[in-house]
Parts: sequence; C-alpha cells; structure tokens
Amino acid sequence: MDHFQLKNGVLYAEDIPVPQIAAEVGTPVYIYSRATLERHARVFRQGLKDVGKIHLAFAVKANPNLAVLRVLANQGYGADVVSGGELERALAAGMKPEDIVFSGVGKTRAELTLGLDKGIGQFNLESEEEGQLLAEIAAARGAQAPATLRVNPDVDAGTHAKISTGKKENKFGVGIDVAPNIYARLSKLDGLNLRGVAVHIGSQLQNLDPLEKCYARMGELVEQLRGAGHEISHVDLGGGLGVPYKPEDNPPSPADYGAMVERVTKGWNVTLMFEPGRVIAGNSGIMATQVIRIKPGVNSDFVIVDAAMNDLMRPAIYDAWHHFEAVEPTGETMIASIVGPICESSDIFTKERKVDRVATDDLGIFRTAGAYGATMANTYNSRPLVPEVLVDGDKYAVVAERIEPATIMAAEQVPDWLK
Ligand code: LLP
Repeated sequence: MDHFQLKNGVLYAEDIPVPQIAAEVGTPVYIYSRATLERHARVFRQGLKDVGKIHLAFAVKANPNLAVLRVLANQGYGADVVSGGELERALAAGMKPEDIVFSGVGKTRAELTLGLDKGIGQFNLESEEEGQLLAEIAAARGAQAPATLRVNPDVDAGTHAKISTGKKENKFGVGIDVAPNIYARLSKLDGLNLRGVAVHIGSQLQNLDPLEKCYARMGELVEQLRGAGHEISHVDLGGGLGVPYKPEDNPPSPADYGAMVERVTKGWNVTLMFEPGRVIAGNSGIMATQVIRIKPGVNSDFVIVDAAMNDLMRPAIYDAWHHFEAVEPTGETMIASIVGPICESSDIFTKERKVDRVATDDLGIFRTAGAYGATMANTYNSRPLVPEVLVDGDKYAVVAERIEPATIMAAEQVPDWLK
C-alpha cells in the first residue's frame, strides 16, 4: 500500500498533484510520501510483534535523506550505517547514538574512532583484523566497544548476484566454519564487549527459504558459542526483505517474515536486531520525469525523458524493473523504450515495454524509487544532482535541492601551472 494514487485522472502524492511539484520544483525529481514511510515502518514493526525483544535499525544506505531519516527516527527506528558519513547523517537526523549499528566491510581507523567518540550502540565486525583494531583503539581510551561478529553463513539468497552477500566467496563477514575460533580470540580482548553475531545475506529477497536456512544456521552457531562459554545477548538478522517492483510481484509480507523469525528463533533468548532498508523506503518514493521528445526506433519508439541513469541507476546496473506510469494516463498504451539523454546504451529504463501512452512534454513516474534511488544518483554527463521532495498530506518540502553543475565546478580547480 502506498499513497501515490490517481484522483480524477491525475496522479497524486498524498494530497498533492504530481504536476504541481513538477511545475514548482522541476523534473526529474524524487517524491517521497511521509504517510507511506510511516505505514511501512509500522507494518514492519507489527510483523515482529511476537518475536520478543527487538531493535530496529533502518539501513541508511537505502535512503539517507535527512528528512526521511527523521521520519523514521520519530517511528522509533535507529540506523544501520556503513560509513562515517552515514553515521553523521543518522545523528544529524536525530537518531540516538545508542540506536546506531555500524556495519560495513572496510571500516577505517578514523571511522571506528568516530563511532567510539559518538558512543554508538554496536559495531558489526567484518573480520578478526577489524576486531583487533577496534579493541586496540577502545582499550587505549579505557573503553569497551559493544560488538557482534558478522558471519558469512554460505547461503545463496536467490537474488541478483550483485546484491547477494551471504555466499562463502563473497567479501562479507567471516566464514561460519571459522567463526567460533575467531569469536573465542576476539572475546578475550579488553577493548571489546563481544555480545553476539550478525548476518545479512542479500537484498530484494523474494522468498523466505534462504533467510530461514540462514537463521537456522545462526541458531546452531549461537548454541555452539554458548556451549563454549560465551554470553550471547544480541543477534543481528540484517535486512533483505524484497518489495514488489512489478504489479504482479508478490514478495513475503512483514507478517510472513515475522512468523518465520518467531518460529526459527524461539528460545534464543537474545535481543534480535533488524536492518530493513528497501521494505521501508522502496514504495515510499517515486521519481517523476518529463518527456523531452519521442523518436521512432526500429523495434519501438524511443521515449526520451529528462531523467537518466545517473538519477536512477538500478535499471542500468542490475537490469532492474521500475514500473512506469503516465501522470495523467489516457487509458491508451504503447510499446516503448523509455530512455534518458546520457550517451550510453545502458541509459534505458524500459526496453520495448508496454507502457501508458505518453507524448512530448507529458509527465511520467517510475515507481518503487524510494530505496537505492536518489542515494545512488550522481552527476555523470555533468547533469545536476536530482532533488528530493517529501510530501505530508497537503504540504510538501524540498528536502534536497537540485545541485547544479556550477556548484560542483566551484569545488574544482585548474592549477596555476596549467594556466
Ligand atoms: N544490512 C546490511 C549489512 C546491508 O548490506 C544491507 C544492504 C541492508 C542491511 C539493507 O538491505 P535491504 O533491507 O534494503 O534489502 N543497491 C542495491 C541494493 C544494495 C543492498 C546492499 N546492502 C539495489 O539497488 O538493489
């Protein structure tokens, strides 16, 4: 369920007509719905109502906009961060340091230090070496860093290879076979309060089976670690729940997920931690774009729009499907390749797909753009950085401005010796 619906033939974001935002802010533009974000945050929490003690940390990488993070902070969410920059954002948005979890495969000394300085709640260690370094930095200041060890369970998430993270050949975590020995060594270090394990096997999961397999393995590991005398109080189960991109997609609901988690983790007696990203933000956002012109192609017309792969990279890099709709649909359809103006053949959003008929100057939207959309945007071809808008009922605000090439050029210099 989301709040981007047609009213009298025009697409609205909550109570604001999309053409109004397009006219006032310009296109391309990301539009988020506060009510949808809040709904998804509530539904995810509700799905876990029978699970016992939980901690929810929104995966900031999915949508790091400060206003979006504030909406989620108000819903009682903490943050899962993977860089010093994300950590600063979560704090700036009002998230409590103790609700912040620091994941990420290559945390630097500076980032570990920042996490300690800010008093964050937990570090998810990705290697023994990282654990040793964190312990050393913490011990030197007489502190103990709260931490878990991220384990690679060697489970195929059954999702796109580029967003799969839990197979043994992937770079994430330590192998589940070597985890007990690494855990034993790290747990002896003064600077660490090693209190559990963490896992995350991939994103956009369409099926609960790989997650269930993974969690069952984690249950065995917890038992083994406890058998070796370790106190395990926290298990971080990561994120990964998929969302519908096509109207016919039917991923597991948060309620299905919660029921599986309850069944598999029964008796673990720990705080279960979650790092959802896409399932909260994905369908809470759309990207609006305007048709520049239409040109005939060999197999179908090319609808050239003012959004491009730099604004929404997912189709270009994962062949991802984002549903296209006209903002004022006529009921007619067309077969079209919707493309951006960038000089690459991968700058294509739909390939010879049946879509709402649109004409020059019409507005259209791509759905499910609230996660891994604006956050992955860039300025390739010296295009502006796409702006973001948050709608709340009958009001909206620009929550990230369009950053023009002139602003970016201002940070560049031609050295004197070239002049
Ligand atoms: N926790 C960790 C440690 C992660 O690496 C991720 C995502 C998440 C949580 C959140 O996963 P989610 O609930 O959103 O599935 N750019 C790609 C997605 C990359 C996901 C990376 N890690 C895309 O556009 O599909």
